[in-house]
Formats: sequence, C-alpha cells, structure tokens
Amino acid sequence: MKYKNLGKSKIKISSIGLGTNFVANIQKDEKKLMYLMQKALDKSINFFDTAEVYHNGYSEILVGKAFKRMRDKVVIATKFSSEHSSYKDVLKTAEGSLKRLQTDYIDLYQIHWPNPIVPIEETLKALEKLIKAGKIRHIGVCNFSQRLLKDIQKASTLPIVSLEIEYNLLERTIEYDLLPYCEKNKITTIAYTPLNSGTILKTEKYSKIFLNLSKKYDRTASQIILNFLISHPSVVAIPATTNIIHLEGNAKSTEFVLEKSDIDLLAKTFTSKVINIDTGKIRVVSITDHAAYKTVEEALSNKLNFFPSPAMLSKDIQKGDFLKPVRIRTVQKKDRIFEYELINGRIRYWAWVIAFNGKKPIPAIVED
Ligand SMILES: NC(=O)c1ccc[n+]([C@@H]2O[C@H](COP(=O)([O-])OP(=O)(O)OC[C@H]3O[C@@H](n4cnc5c(N)ncnc54)[C@H](OP(=O)(O)O)[C@@H]3O)[C@@H](O)[C@H]2O)c1
Repeated sequence: MKYKNLGKSKIKISSIGLGTNFVANIQKDEKKLMYLMQKALDKSINFFDTAEVYHNGYSEILVGKAFKRMRDKVVIATKFSSEHSSYKDVLKTAEGSLKRLQTDYIDLYQIHWPNPIVPIEETLKALEKLIKAGKIRHIGVCNFSQRLLKDIQKASTLPIVSLEIEYNLLERTIEYDLLPYCEKNKITTIAYTPLNSGTILKTEKYSKIFLNLSKKYDRTASQIILNFLISHPSVVAIPATTNIIHLEGNAKSTEFVLEKSDIDLLAKTFTSKVINIDTGKIRVVSITDHAAYKTVEEALSNKLNFFPSPAMLSKDIQKGDFLKPVRIRTVQKKDRIFEYELINGRIRYWAWVIAFNGKKPIPAIVED
C-alpha cells in the first residue's frame, strides 16, 4: 500500500481508502460489513469515509463498531450535511457523529456540499471551535468549485486539507482546474465514485482496452482504473465494496506503476466531449430510485426538499460555478420535442434552467 499525506498535515492516509456508503442493507449485513472493514485494515487500508447521512447514520455506527478497539490505527473521515452548516447545527451534528462513531475525535470533518445561504465564516467558526476542543483534527470540503474552495481558504484560519469530489475515467472535469489547484496547494483530492459505481467495468465498449492493459500488467480492470486516478500525486480514491475479493484487489491497486504511455492512452480513450445543448431538448426522467422534477415549476417549488434547492444552486451557477457537465443519452424513439434524456445531474440541470431562464444551452456529455 502507498500512503499520502492528508493535505499539509502529518497524517498519512492510504492511497486507496474505503467508501462506506455501501450498496447493501447494512443493518442486515452488519456482521459481514464489520468483517470487511477490519479486513480492509488488515490489507493496510487505513482511511475510511463516511457521513452522517449515509444509511441515516448507520454507516457511522458501523465504522464506530468496527474500529473502537483500534481507533489509533485508522483515519476516519465523516461529513455533516449542507443543511447543518449553521454554527449551532455544526456543533450539534458533530456530537451526533462522535457518538455514533464511538470516538472522542474525528480525523477529517468535511462539509458535504456547499451551503449557499449560511456564510462560510459562520460554519468555520464552529469548525474552529471543534478543532480547539480536540473533537475534530482537520477540515475538508466536498463538491466545492474552485471559487468556493478559494473563498473558504481565504476565510479560514485553519488549513483546508482535502477536497472530496467525483473523479473517475468518465468524469474528469476536475483535471481542468480543481486538480491542478489542489496539487499546487497541497490539498488532498479524495476521488469519490472512482469506479463509476461499477458500471464502467460492465460496459462492453470499454472491455478491449481493459483487457489489453489487464494482460500487460497482470492486473484487473479496477486496479488499472484506480492506479490511473492515484497516479496524480494529490489523489486518493475511496471505492466502496461489499465484496472481500474486490476489496483485496482494490487494496493492491497501488502495487504497480502504469507507464506514462498507458496513462496517456487511458486519458485519450476516456476523453468525454462536452457539448452545449439546448435545455429544452432534454427530457428529465426519474433515474433508478432517484426522484426528479419534470418541470421548472416543480423544480422551483422544490417539494422534494432537495438541499441546496435548484433555485439556491442557480445563484452559484450565475456566479460561474458549474461543478461538472450533466450526462444525457439520446432518446431511442425520438419525439418532436426531446432529443435527449437526462441520466445524471437532475438538480444541476434545473438550477441551470432557472439561472438562465431556459435560454442558455447546458454543458453536457452524451453517453450513448
Ligand atoms: N462526498 C460526496 O458527495 C460523495 C458522493 C458519492 C460517493 N461518496 C463516497 O465515495 C464512495 C464510493 O463511491 P460510490 O459507491 O458512489 O462508487 P464506486 O466506489 O465507484 O462504486 C461502487 C461499486 O463498485 C463496485 N466495485 C468496487 N470495487 C470493485 C471491484 N474491484 N470490481 C468490481 N466491482 C467493484 C461495488 O460493487 P461490489 O460491492 O460488488 O464490489 C459497488 O457497486 C462512497 O461509499 C462514499 O463514501 C462521496
């Protein structure tokens, strides 16, 4: 296993961590998952990512149970939800996480999503109080644009040690600005959804390149992908798995070095073309178990209580923040209005529509 410093701190974290928003019935599978997490530590994974919101707090409970007797061996990262960003709520939420994690301190406390309403200074005041009290060791952020990252750095008296953000072969937007910024400023980039939730491994059109590289390095496709991501000096990846064989394989992803020509080959093969598409041509449907608004009126009324709401997010978009393009696919049976269907980015889509009154084409990647 290779380790990297967490930001400018002295804490060493494994380049491959474990995401604990498991796709599983975690209460039912508790024993198996506890065993899996302990196995991860056996395999030298010491970095565990959770959040108050994962499985309604149960992910934190599980991490707490798994490591309460070996607390000093692991680095625990958790997050408070964006709606808990006020001074009082941050302090209260941290107490809840500490209790569920059965620990006196959280190594890395992260803001799960930016909050467009609560001033960042207020949130930081609470985080600074938690640091002084020894309840958290370091502050990190998730899903922040470069502008917001710079803002929080300017406002904070303490270093922001990490940015957790989506980064995988099919979502490489951060390579344009955030990744170089993090590398330059020694901020650890924690790559979430590094394996595209597993789908990239099952997609026929990518099988050839993975097969060739797998043969050349005698490694699995997942190991090739994870190695590509962590080949960037500031990046660590946190794949989630409920499968011991996958876990062991992921842990070994740091044991080889991809040649520069193969890194370039992967980068070239997985370049996603971003095109600007008229928002009116995109149909919004509910994606698997994710509910979505179908009209701008629904998005504006935000009955599903998304936070930040599309209207709130639209304000940041007007200031130039757009974390990543939405993902769409061509509608199979074309009708007269819609040419595409949205597959990822249901809040960002409506935020964009609201920000520009539906008049500005949206950056999108077509996945066909
Ligand atoms: N901060 C944020 O806003 C945010 C957002 C999303 C996610 N996250 C964090 O990132 C973690 C990971 O993200 P994710 O779960 O979305 O995506 P992911 O790690 O890309 O994908 C997880 C899926 O990949 C499969 N998988 C893992 N290793 C594999 C292997 N070696 N071979 C084949 N399949 C493999 C898993 O199935 P098996 O169980 O069968 O292995 C699982 O279905 C989360 O648990 C969470 O901690 C953070």
